[in-house]
Amino acid sequence: MHRMEMISNFSQQRFLREVDYLVCVDVDMKFSDHVGVEILSPLFGTLHPIFFRAARESFTYERRPQSQAYIPTDEGDFYYAGGFFGGSVAEVLRLTSACHQAMVIDQANGIEALWHDESHLNRYLLYHKPTKVLSPEYLWDEQILQRPPFLKRLRYVAVPKNHAEIRH
Ligand code: GAL
Ligand code: MN
Repeated sequence: MHRMEMISNFSQQRFLREVDYLVCVDVDMKFSDHVGVEILSPLFGTLHPIFFRAARESFTYERRPQSQAYIPTDEGDFYYAGGFFGGSVAEVLRLTSACHQAMVIDQANGIEALWHDESHLNRYLLYHKPTKVLSPEYLWDEQILQRPPFLKRLRYVAVPKNHAEIRH
């Protein structure tokens, strides 16, 4: 939940002066093929590996209007993964500040979005369209989805873990 706040703070304090782009990724993953400058764009997100062929009604957006991450069932184009996004430092600063502020409001109202920071990322990217959308090659989970033949390359993959043990 704190990644948005941390990235926002460090962007303001350092990254704006130090680098051109930020790539924000989960740590419980490993690189298993090429990931290079082809991903860079002012604002980019990645299609979640479970939902890239699904209808938007089935996306696991936050559906309670009380949350700042709320998206109605007749809106939304993609379900983005929380574990791989980025862009120019200025754009990532805007995104992470907005998501952090939304989470602070939710917390004050005693509500936490279904998929935490990922729900807020999805709401932000719906109303601030990314300039590039990466395929699920950039965030895959072989434990859940195996290795389908149409995916020629798996570039960044989840390290197997016991989801139930970690979440509950
Ligand atoms: C799961 C994933 C979660 C979240 C969820 C969204 O597969 O482990 O982190 O992204 O999908 O429905
Ligand atoms: Mn993860």
